[in-house]
Order: sequence, then structure tokens, then C-alpha cells
Amino acid sequence: MELSPDPIYTGRFVLRPFRRRDSDALNEAVRSSIHELHEWLPWAHLAYGRVEASNYIRESIKAWKETKAYDYAIGNRTDDTGLHLGNVSIWFVSRGFRTGEIGYWVRTDRAARGIATEVSARLVQIGFEQLRMHRIVLRIAVGNRASERVAEKLGFVREGILREELKVRGSWMDHTVYSMLDHEYDRQRSHIADLVAAAHLTVEDHPPGA
Ligand SMILES: CC(C)(COP(=O)(O)OP(=O)(O)OC[C@H]1O[C@@H](n2cnc3c(N)ncnc32)[C@H](O)[C@@H]1OP(=O)(O)O)[C@@H](O)C(=O)NCCC(=O)NCCS
Repeated sequence: MELSPDPIYTGRFVLRPFRRRDSDALNEAVRSSIHELHEWLPWAHLAYGRVEASNYIRESIKAWKETKAYDYAIGNRTDDTGLHLGNVSIWFVSRGFRTGEIGYWVRTDRAARGIATEVSARLVQIGFEQLRMHRIVLRIAVGNRASERVAEKLGFVREGILREELKVRGSWMDHTVYSMLDHEYDRQRSHIADLVAAAHLTVEDHPPGA
């Protein structure tokens, strides 16, 4: 199962596979948000810089070619200034049982505008409709209320806690697992499509490029 590397779109955003020339923009976005990313994500250490951004992009291009993971850079659709808004990814945890996972982060100065929800909804569509996943999970550190809200708005079901699942900032952190199954997606297609289209937002709330 492969995905085309062509850009994909939501109501407000364009999602593109990474290119080598994206490393400065990625580094700028991570650096501008490092304290918030550092709180929840194991890779976001405080000294993150250009080397890490270039390494990430190299690995991301390789993983895409090997169909191991599909990482997308998020940009504005109507005002594509090159500002890196964040990342959203989908990958198979188990191909045999068709389980996938989605992960995301959004730059801090663009948070709480519905970006993570909108772009994740697009990858939910891709996971079920193109990659034919049976089950998609989100793993969210306990206490990460903003990310839990994303899961809730997408309509994922809270399953339970994975104890001491990842080490972040030197401490083991419990994570909550949320999931959606293919037959649940079938019942929620129009809700997900509305999130992708940003149909619930008015232009006044979120002008292009906001
Ligand atoms: C979590 C994150 C991805 C959310 O991205 P986003 O684009 O701001 O998400 P959305 O705007 O779609 O939704 C965020 C929701 O959380 C709410 N929220 C934001 N900060 C919050 C906080 N500190 N406490 C409670 N709710 C919060 C927002 O109000 C919004 O909910 P609402 O629509 O009901 O008002 C982003 O904050 C981030 O990248 N954080 C750091 C890295 C991270 O945690 N990644 C996820 C790992 S699982």
C-alpha cells in the first residue's frame, strides 16, 4: 500500500511530503515552539537545531520511499509563504492487522486555531480510504489536554492508559490510547469531511493565512 507524494489539501491547508530544502523552515518552526514540544515529545530536546531538522527530513524521505511512514509538512493553502505550521504523519503499526497511527504537532504561535484537528481529519480519511486501515490510534501523554481535545473533536474513542509508555524529559510518561475503527469511520464520514473542509469555521474566525 503506497501513497502518492502529491500534495493533499484541506479547507485551509496544504500537506506536502518533506523535501530537502524544507530543513530551515522546519528548524525555525521547531525552535519557535521548542518549550511546548519539549513538554510532550521525546525527540524535542532543547538543543534541537539544523542538524536534527536535516536528519529528520532525510529519514522522512527514506521512510516514505520504503512505505514505512508518511510525514507531511503543513503549510497555508491560500498564502503559501513557506511558513512551516507543523507536522502530521500516518504510519502502519501492523500491516497484517491493518492498524495505523497518526501523530502531529503545530507551531505554538498558530496553536488553538483548529489546525491539528483539520489536518489529522484528512489523514483519517487517507488511512481508512486509501491505506485501507482497519484501526487508527492516537497515543497522547496523560495531561496533554490540547491533544486530547483533538482526539475528541475527531470522534476517537478513549480506550485506556499505556503505563510508562515513553520517556520524555527523562521521566516515564503514561499515555492514553484513542482509536477509531473502519466501521466507526463509515458512520462518521460526513463529520470528518466537515472537519477537513473547515466547514464549521467562518472566514471571520479564521481568515486565510491566519
Ligand atoms: C496538541 C497540539 C498538536 C494541538 O494543535 P492545535 O492546532 O492547537 O489543535 P486544535 O486547535 O485543533 O485543537 C486544540 C484544542 O485544545 C484546546 N486547548 C489548547 N490548549 C489547551 C490547554 N492548555 N488546555 C486545555 N485545552 C487546550 C483548544 O482550545 C482546542 O479545543 P477547542 O477547539 O475545543 O477550543 C499542539 O498544541 C502541539 O503541537 N502541542 C505540542 C506538541 C504536542 O503535544 N503534540 C501532540 C502529541 S500527541
